[in-house]
Amino acid sequence: MTAPTPRPGILDIRPYVAGGSSAPGAEKIYKMSSNESALGASPKAIEAYQAASEILHLYPDGGAHRLRKKIAETFDLDASRIVCGSGSDEILQLLTKAYVGEGENIIQTEHGFLVYALAAKSCGGEPRFAKETRLTTDVDAIIELVDDQTRIVFVANPNNPTGTYIPDIEIRRLREELRDDVLLVIDAAYAEYMEEPDYDAGAALVDELNNTVMTRTFSKIYGLGGIRLGWGYCPAAIADVLNRIRGPFNVNAAALAAGAAALGDNEFVDKNRAHNREQRDWLAQQLGGLGLDFVPSFGNFILVKFPAAPGLNADDIQAYLKTGGVIVREMGPYNLGEYLRISIGEKEGNRKLIEMLEKKFR
Ligand SMILES: Cc1ncc(COP(=O)(O)O)c(C=O)c1O
Repeated sequence: MTAPTPRPGILDIRPYVAGGSSAPGAEKIYKMSSNESALGASPKAIEAYQAASEILHLYPDGGAHRLRKKIAETFDLDASRIVCGSGSDEILQLLTKAYVGEGENIIQTEHGFLVYALAAKSCGGEPRFAKETRLTTDVDAIIELVDDQTRIVFVANPNNPTGTYIPDIEIRRLREELRDDVLLVIDAAYAEYMEEPDYDAGAALVDELNNTVMTRTFSKIYGLGGIRLGWGYCPAAIADVLNRIRGPFNVNAAALAAGAAALGDNEFVDKNRAHNREQRDWLAQQLGGLGLDFVPSFGNFILVKFPAAPGLNADDIQAYLKTGGVIVREMGPYNLGEYLRISIGEKEGNRKLIEMLEKKFR
């Protein structure tokens, strides 16, 4: 009997492996594997989520009107050009679905966020990986890979898992050097953690041009990864395209309510940003003190390099940390097998991590 077969290339896709969450035998779990919010979710968002239980029988507002208005007010944007999605992942997938087809390609950086490559493959496109310089996006290397079949360039800024960023001036240089018909997607999932004056999340470029999109998420500083909420800021024609192909009710009612409430909770966002800065600095200082190499990070995580020695290499340290309930992320899929990516956790988890590493590296 013959069976349905997917389009060519689909079965070559290796499914995305999310950060681990279990550590059998450990007394307490410190999940530092998925760059989630160290301080949980905004209390105002939790309250709104609970209140949404009253309207579970109703379809959500398919146009996300209230949330888009709130996003527009918060970031001084044009609400009509915001498209909300079930995580920014959905926006990345929709963009690829709309603009990339068989025989065409997307470009991302060699250690860039892996979802772009998966999205491209699922549309029959080819992902191309531009070399990075010191684990940082290299604009010239991206430009070199562009050919007539290039449809999208994805830049995560700051990037996950490296934690590095390029300044606005470099993003603008990239845009200037790309053909006008190549879409530039600036994935600013970690923008809320950024405090550097030369950084811009990309909204200004979106406003100026018709070929650049910025994506954002509620999964990081707002602490809403579990309800899947993100958005894209687009030129009008691209917002129109996304609205044609997204599901009519792609964002659920609880996410719409919680997201809008989270945007009104500056106190929580400020607290989370300050916590991240302070704990990231502390971790960097402690890791340095243990003689471990790490990449200075601008996100809510830190990429740490481990020696090649048995017992001390990244795989062995990952397994060792797990015995104490500290779950971190392996980097093999990003071709960074000597590294582990450690999300900035609560103080207790960060301390536990360092205490355990001290036993190996002091
Ligand atoms: C760079 C980057 N972009 C996008 C995402 C996806 O976020 P979301 O939860 O909004 O789908 C992540 C999540 O880790 C990320 O690191």
